[in-house]
Amino acid sequence: MKTIIRKVDRGQIDKAVMAEAGEILIRGGLVAFPTETVYGLGANALDEEAAKKTYAAKGRPSDNPLIVHIAGISYLKAIAKEIPEAALKLAEKFWPGPLTMIFDKSEIVPYGTTGGLDTVAVRMPDDEIARELILAGGGYISAPSANTSGRPSTTTAQHVEEDLSGKIEMIVDGGPVEIGVESTIVDMTVVPPMILRPGAITKEMLEEEIGEVTVDKAIITPDSNIAPKAPGMKYRHYAPKADLTVVEGDVNDVIAYINDKIKEAAQKELKCGVIATKETEDRYRDADVKCAGTREDEMTIAAGLYRILREFDDDSVDVIYSEAFYSDGIGSAVMNRLLKAAGHHIVNV
Ligand code: TXA
Ligand code: MG
Repeated sequence: MKTIIRKVDRGQIDKAVMAEAGEILIRGGLVAFPTETVYGLGANALDEEAAKKTYAAKGRPSDNPLIVHIAGISYLKAIAKEIPEAALKLAEKFWPGPLTMIFDKSEIVPYGTTGGLDTVAVRMPDDEIARELILAGGGYISAPSANTSGRPSTTTAQHVEEDLSGKIEMIVDGGPVEIGVESTIVDMTVVPPMILRPGAITKEMLEEEIGEVTVDKAIITPDSNIAPKAPGMKYRHYAPKADLTVVEGDVNDVIAYINDKIKEAAQKELKCGVIATKETEDRYRDADVKCAGTREDEMTIAAGLYRILREFDDDSVDVIYSEAFYSDGIGSAVMNRLLKAAGHHIVNV
């Protein structure tokens, strides 16, 4: 299959391209498109066959459910059996935006889309290209991140091309995404609601609207005996090819430790990569140092993370050391993805 690539300007969305993409989706084909979080691999969410194609293109296990993307709150009623009051409040505040909510599914949502579950994950993305495309494609578009299963999610159309060219009908290129890590997932079928995946909408932001929100234990403690409630969180994805270690502690100790490790790697003739920040990048010696962003604005680190993990694959580094990121904001989502990429290998110095 030859993958069509179409550039779209967010300021002036080309209706003809949207119609072309919409037709492919309605026919049951696959179209990758930008959202504000990461690129999505779109398919008709109400078509079981389209879901099968999605799993095949990504090489993704079919027990890992897809998120259904909508472009207006009125679309929610047809796919969610029941919409709790708290969900309406959150939708009012955070949609369109990087928040996915889980509901009991209605009958029109096929089990192929929900990985066999009786619940459905729903999100209304903020990206205007995404919303136009959803409408053009019939209103219900399933979209996992548009990467090969196991690789870091894609934040540019070029990343999508690397992973999925020849396997999908079309890529809509809207340039680099804004946020860079996937949406926050909240299970609204339990009381109090539970965060299954951290993202740009934080626990504090949710609690401000609806009161107590819990966090799935499996995403806090890296104990492989606890199964995460979001099936996708059990896979070691977001992973670069090289072994990644996260180093936490006082910044000067972290830098000294990593510089020692760089020397050790050089003695073994291993190529070493470092994930640093604007504040520290000049303090590492003789390594492939990449700056994720600045600690003054952790949004920049989220935006750079997946690109950097992919670049390390291209550079064929053997080992990677990363500084740790903690904060109440998007830093917790960054750290969650980084620890998954590292297979939870973290050292305290
Ligand atoms: O930001 C995002 O959410 C992106 C963009 C494209 O919108 N999409 C995304 O999809 O990250 P994906 O498929 O890569 O991740 C979806 C996650 C998986 O961990 C999956 O297991 C979980 O959502 N999930 C989907 N439906 C679920 C359900 N009914 N119950 C529990 N977890 C669910
Ligand atoms: Mg994904």
